[in-house]
Amino acid sequence: MLEEMDLFLYFSIFAIGGIYVFVYFPITFSYKTNRNNVKLPPGKFGWPIIGETIDFVLSSRNGYPERFIANRTNNYSSEIFKTSLIGEKMAVLCGPSGNKFVFSNENRLVKSWIPHSVQKVLLEETNSDLGSEERTMWRSIFFEFLKPEVIKTYIPVIDYSTKQHLEDEWGSNQTLKVHPLTKRFIFALSCKLFLGIEDPSDLAKLADQFALVNAGLISLPVDIPGTAFSNAIKAAKVIRGELQKIVRQQKLYLSESEDLETSCNMLARSLAITENLGKFTSESEIASTMLGFLLASHEATSALITNLIYHLADNPQVYSQVLREQNEIAKLKGAEKLLSWEDTNRMKYSRNVMNEVLRIAPPSQGFFREALHDITYTNFTIPKGWKIYWSVSTTHKDPKYFPKPEYFDPTRFEGDGPLPYTFTPFGGGPRMCPGNEFARQLVLVFIHNLVRKYSWEKLLPNEKIRFDQGLAVPVSGLPIKIQPHRDQAVE
Ligand code: HEM
Repeated sequence: MLEEMDLFLYFSIFAIGGIYVFVYFPITFSYKTNRNNVKLPPGKFGWPIIGETIDFVLSSRNGYPERFIANRTNNYSSEIFKTSLIGEKMAVLCGPSGNKFVFSNENRLVKSWIPHSVQKVLLEETNSDLGSEERTMWRSIFFEFLKPEVIKTYIPVIDYSTKQHLEDEWGSNQTLKVHPLTKRFIFALSCKLFLGIEDPSDLAKLADQFALVNAGLISLPVDIPGTAFSNAIKAAKVIRGELQKIVRQQKLYLSESEDLETSCNMLARSLAITENLGKFTSESEIASTMLGFLLASHEATSALITNLIYHLADNPQVYSQVLREQNEIAKLKGAEKLLSWEDTNRMKYSRNVMNEVLRIAPPSQGFFREALHDITYTNFTIPKGWKIYWSVSTTHKDPKYFPKPEYFDPTRFEGDGPLPYTFTPFGGGPRMCPGNEFARQLVLVFIHNLVRKYSWEKLLPNEKIRFDQGLAVPVSGLPIKIQPHRDQAVE
């Protein structure tokens, strides 16, 4: 990624001279002359084409994405500023009011937008945009299976699988690297719950392809053989092909099965619903939707678990209090029984700890929208077609809302907790993460099992957390040394 980024910087800088004179200058000139009656937000577009992308990328890679924004909001004394990122004119909206504006105007003033290169990887074969009717239908059907009444049924499965994972993958090691291990586990669990896939060789094949997609999703978008971007496009194609095969198998199973209720994975249950409605749609649409879904689900959740383990290592008192809470729950429950929704709801302190990790190291950095009309916001105009960026960590690291923001303090979430629109790790409004409660439950179950079995220390005490491939994770994958509890926690 570093090499790719460096290549990107060199490539961009050399390209600038010619492009500026022949393309950019006439475009910006005509833009300014045509739109000189509107008051644009303060800010700079930076270098031609690359704009301020380099500064943006470097502040994220150094672990401080909020600095790119805070420097500008301070310089311009404004909670909105203009910039140019990844070749697009952009308005960055900050603070609780910026978040509220984006979340409350979904599909009225703004709509979701993802960079063209990402679209090319994720949607290559479908020839339709993000909002296709079929894809919207599939999304809403899948979202039904992330509601609390369904999540309740996943919890014992998650508990059982976590216990097995810790036994098999952690038990025999003294040292291990948390992030890759956790990612493999969450991916396998997601495939089991959402697709019904459990065969290790099928899982390994899919996981390898997903790794390629992830490595190329945010890279120099040059589609020539051998580049990360080209590999990602090919891998996504392979995954779609595999997912289509799975959809066909599940359809066959449904047509032969008398009892649709026996199908327990999300895909089979979704297919059963659409069949009952007489609405079997194309396999490629389902495969594309499922691809995005699996990607969104396992990457961010495994980053959250990794960052939680990181912060528990740095804060032994917090670890002890989490352990105490989890032991009490296990005692109340009886150790043989699998966890339930009622048990995870009792994990109040652990939930606050998880929230503090989501505040200080939110897995996702920020998301884009597109202006559907000329928008007036705090006396400035965001022209139709401009992109809008809202950032997760800007409010999270603002001392106005979270005093001493670099200090790890789960008590911030006690009582009424943070002010509205200041704590947004899962976004907000109609596009708020549909998997947020699923992710939280999964992490609580994981941590219950982990702290009761082990304590651990970081092998790289000063390892930094930084954004790589759009996700906040420790730079070296979090190598740790683990120590099983001698007096196995309360049974
Ligand atoms: C810690 C874990 C997670 C974090 C931090 C996270 C974060 C987010 C955020 C911030 C958004 C909003 C994007 C926007 O405003 O445009 C989002 C959307 C989404 N997330 Fe998550 N997510 C997590 C886990 C999951 C899981 C487990 C699933 C699925 C089971 C999931 C599925 C999705 C989907 C499908 C969307 C797109 C929603 C739409 O297009 O309307 N996420 N996520």
